[in-house]
Amino acid sequence: MNKFPHDFFWGASTSAHQVEGGNLHNDWWLAEQGGSLREASGQACRHYDLFKEDFAIAKELGHNCHRFSIEWSRIEPQEGEFQPFEIEHYHKVIAELRRLGIEPVVTLHHFTNPVWFSRKGGWVDSGLQRYFLSFVEKIVSEFCGEVKFWITINEPLVYSSHSYLLGVWPPQERSLSKTARVTLNMARAHIKAYRIIHDIYRRRGLARPMVSIAANLQAFEPCRPTLKNKLAVYLRDKLYNFYFIEELLRRKSLDYIGLNYYSRNLADVESWGIRHLLLDTCKYNHHPLRKNSLGWDIYPQGIYKLLIALKRYGLPVLITENGICTEDDALRWDYIREHLQMVHRSMQEGVNVLGYIYWSLIDNFEWDKGFGPRFGLVDIDYRDQKRTIRPSAKKLSEVFKTGLI
Ligand code: BGC
Repeated sequence: MNKFPHDFFWGASTSAHQVEGGNLHNDWWLAEQGGSLREASGQACRHYDLFKEDFAIAKELGHNCHRFSIEWSRIEPQEGEFQPFEIEHYHKVIAELRRLGIEPVVTLHHFTNPVWFSRKGGWVDSGLQRYFLSFVEKIVSEFCGEVKFWITINEPLVYSSHSYLLGVWPPQERSLSKTARVTLNMARAHIKAYRIIHDIYRRRGLARPMVSIAANLQAFEPCRPTLKNKLAVYLRDKLYNFYFIEELLRRKSLDYIGLNYYSRNLADVESWGIRHLLLDTCKYNHHPLRKNSLGWDIYPQGIYKLLIALKRYGLPVLITENGICTEDDALRWDYIREHLQMVHRSMQEGVNVLGYIYWSLIDNFEWDKGFGPRFGLVDIDYRDQKRTIRPSAKKLSEVFKTGLI
């Protein structure tokens, strides 16, 4: 048996648009009404109203931290019009977590934007970051006394690639140059947000906060060991996994690294050209592995390899997401157990891991895939919003309570 440290953070994650319901003022809601997406988020899990019930479950399951996002479009549905009522809502959310002894980990941008911001041009236009920064300033000034762990932006490269390269998320564009601009603007916005957050804590004489992004890293592997595939892995590692983090490190704007890890990406490049090198994957299921219900490979070694790779940056790592969508809950438990074993192994080899946050606490709205994929520790029956704790959640809670895996 392996033992995790007694002060390890154990929890689960959600994001506002995926669980709250009724996020009327963001670009996703607008696109959902336009019919270009599989499903509309609608009432989602009604977590906006039911958060106390959901946190009670997390508490019962031994969670001591919880990651969630504050929805910008609720706080500022029209430019400059901040809503005291919605700010109050998140005060209640955080107060409830604190009452239960659960550490909040707060994300400031998790894929959605207020409609007014996207209509102006959103993240493509470098002049518009200031709107995000004024939201950050507002929120952090409000919540600095209650929050230590911040994530400015969730998965900037997933956002830029899905929204501007693959064209599957709002605004559903396909442009390499816009993808690069959005990515760069998000990096700049994070660096400025990092300084704003630290300044606020300093001015108020509060202990230093812990600020990062949540970076989605993938385990890139070559399918056949051809030159093209090896080059693809090299480029993907460099550009997708590490470039963004290294830029932020160079600007001294990370206090820890938030790691989101799910799967392997098996590179099999059909022809030369940057799009192929960056995007082509094996279509023939060479090197087959168990898969989640979206067909993603289950590859626990990947989290180990990435944690070892992150060691060189000398910062603590918080696993801000790791999880599986599946109809087979026994497979969910295997996934979690095997990943935790790999996390433990990396820690024995000197990686400083602060905690493990599973994605997700409850089933939720999986973006362009709709409500089909089931990532939750807790099942949601969308007909009546009934919550049912899955057996895997109970097994995981034993780990959370004993530290043993
Ligand atoms: C995102 C979540 C998403 C999860 C599963 C992450 O990329 O942060 O919003 O639901 O992966 O796809």
